[in-house]
Amino acid sequence: MIYGEIDLDDELIRENMMGPNAVRILEEMTRDMDLRKGMRVLDLGCGRGLTSIYLARKFGVTVYATDLWISATENFNRFKELGLDHLIIPIHAEAHELPYAEGFFDFIISVDSFHYFGHEEGYLDKHLAPLLKKGGQIHVGVPGLRKEFDEGVPEEMRPFYQLDYNFHTCEWWKAHWEASDLVKDIRCREIECHEQAWEDWLSCDNEHAIQDRPMMEAEGGKYYNTVSLHAIRK
Ligand SMILES: C[S@@+](CC[C@H](N)C(=O)[O-])C[C@H]1O[C@@H](n2cnc3c(N)ncnc32)[C@H](O)[C@@H]1O
Repeated sequence: MIYGEIDLDDELIRENMMGPNAVRILEEMTRDMDLRKGMRVLDLGCGRGLTSIYLARKFGVTVYATDLWISATENFNRFKELGLDHLIIPIHAEAHELPYAEGFFDFIISVDSFHYFGHEEGYLDKHLAPLLKKGGQIHVGVPGLRKEFDEGVPEEMRPFYQLDYNFHTCEWWKAHWEASDLVKDIRCREIECHEQAWEDWLSCDNEHAIQDRPMMEAEGGKYYNTVSLHAIRK
C-alpha cells in the first residue's frame, strides 16, 4: 500500500504491526512537517520499527529507532534486510533512561507508545524535551478518549478498559504539556484516520489484534480516538 508516496509492503506492515496502523497515523501526522534529509529523529517506542522505516524512506532522515520490548538486534536485522541500516540506528532503551545527549535531536516522534510513560507528571521536562535542540519539534500520536471517563468507565467497556491504559482526551494532554517549562506552541487535535488505523490492526491475525476485537466491538466508535500532540522546544 502507498503511504504518502511511499510504497510499503502489506506483508511487512501486517507482520510487524503492534497496534492500530502506526504508519497510517504517522503519515497523517507528518503531512505538514518540515523533515529534511540529514536531520536526527528520535522514534520513541518504535516497536518493530515500521514508523522508523517510513521516516527514513520518505524523508531521508537519520532515525534513532528506540524501543524497550523489541531488541535492537531484531530491529537491526529488519532494517538491514530493507537496505536502511545506514539511516536507522536501532537502540534498546527505557524511556526514563534514554542514552542521548541534550540538544541532540531535531525531531522526536512517538506513535502509540507515549501513553505508557508520557502521562507521568514531569516526564516531558525530565526525560524528553531536553534531548531536543532549541526550535526542535516533538510530535506524538496516542490512543485517546473523546471524553474523559470522569464518571467511571462505561459499563460496556468495563470488561476491557484498564485504568493503566492512560487514554485521555486532547484537552487533558494539552493541559498536561502546558505544565512544561521547556516546550511552547502546544497543538492538539484528533487524528482523522483513527478508524482506518484500527481496522487495519483488527483485521490482521496477530493474537493481540484478535484479543482487541471484542473491546472495539463494545466501544463501537463511541469512546476512543487517536490524539495528535505537537510542540516546539523553547
Ligand atoms: C503498542 S506498541 C507500539 C509500537 C510501535 N510504535 C507501533 O505502533 O507499531 C508500544 C511500544 O511502546 C514501547 N514502550 C512501552 N513502554 C516503554 C518504555 N518505558 N520505554 C521505552 N519503550 C516503551 C514498547 O516497547 C512497545 O514497542
